[in-house]
Amino acid sequence: MRASILPRYGAPELLTLAELPRPVPGPGQLLVRVVASAVNPVDLEVRSGSKADHITHDFPMILGWDLAGVVEECGSGVARFAPGDRVVAMSAQLATGVGTHAQYVVLDAGLAARAPHTAELAHTAALPLAGLTAHQALDALAPPEGGTVLITGAAGAVGGLAVQLAVARGLKVLAHGRPGDADRLHALGADEAYSSQRPVPPGAADGLLETAGLPRAVAGVRDGGRAVSVVPLAPPVSERGVEVRMSFVEQDGRRLEELSGLVDQGVLTLRVERTYPLAEVGAAHRRLAAGGSRGKLLISPWD
Ligand SMILES: NC(=O)c1ccc[n+]([C@@H]2O[C@H](COP(=O)([O-])OP(=O)(O)OC[C@H]3O[C@@H](n4cnc5c(N)ncnc54)[C@H](OP(=O)(O)O)[C@@H]3O)[C@@H](O)[C@H]2O)c1
Repeated sequence: MRASILPRYGAPELLTLAELPRPVPGPGQLLVRVVASAVNPVDLEVRSGSKADHITHDFPMILGWDLAGVVEECGSGVARFAPGDRVVAMSAQLATGVGTHAQYVVLDAGLAARAPHTAELAHTAALPLAGLTAHQALDALAPPEGGTVLITGAAGAVGGLAVQLAVARGLKVLAHGRPGDADRLHALGADEAYSSQRPVPPGAADGLLETAGLPRAVAGVRDGGRAVSVVPLAPPVSERGVEVRMSFVEQDGRRLEELSGLVDQGVLTLRVERTYPLAEVGAAHRRLAAGGSRGKLLISPWD
């Protein structure tokens, strides 16, 4: 099979195509024929080596966390899936070393979920990492019923899904993005759209979900409220009794299946900006690093 491999830490240009043996599923595992994967900020961090102090893997390394594809083969003991099933999954590549920028991926069946059937299969690769991150961070925030949440980076992958999930939970959503994002944020269901040109009123929200690397957004939380950040490089600092927590995404096939259901119910929309062939994963890294993407950057491993 073909895969995009990283021979050592460094620049996007290092990513190159390689022919590797097709992996074989063990007990409880699935072999998935990947239809699409996606690029996430963590891939850029792993590639550059900035995560190497925490976890290192052998080279060559395959990057990528998200996948959408079709089950090719099931290992022994897999009852939930059968060959031919359309699935999505998140592989925590940083922890497991299993990357998804390849034509085939083997992973534990418990990490997979049925793909939404109302969306083009390739586009559902936009869901796993960003969707699970948003879902789990909102759970950690646990705002009061009918309360108000401030979501930063709301036009981004995690933030955009968080806005839609929060609206579906009956919360009032204050969305913070770039000055040009207001229409987009309202289209996602936000009640108010804020930016550097229209600052959030101090203390306006019960809780903050921070996805943009803007720790000072904590000023928008009322006294004694809560802030949850998914950006460890720039954690908010507690003030006025605001409790600050970090949230780190965890693999969870069952939760992912709930998110698939929300796509089918029209609660979540999947936004895709562009699809790159496997040979151009490096170009997708450069595009993501440049900022301004307003949809996921997907990787098509068969082009
Ligand atoms: N803790 C975890 O488990 C976890 C999981 C997933 C992601 N993350 C982290 O969460 C963050 C968001 O990930 P993502 O995939 O959603 O990235 P993304 O799609 O690039 O979204 C980030 C959004 O924040 C916006 N933004 C950045 N600086 C801003 C500013 N000064 N003012 C207004 N908006 C600003 C960006 O706008 P522009 O594009 O215009 O810059 C973009 O819309 C990343 O740092 C990622 O590493 C953490």
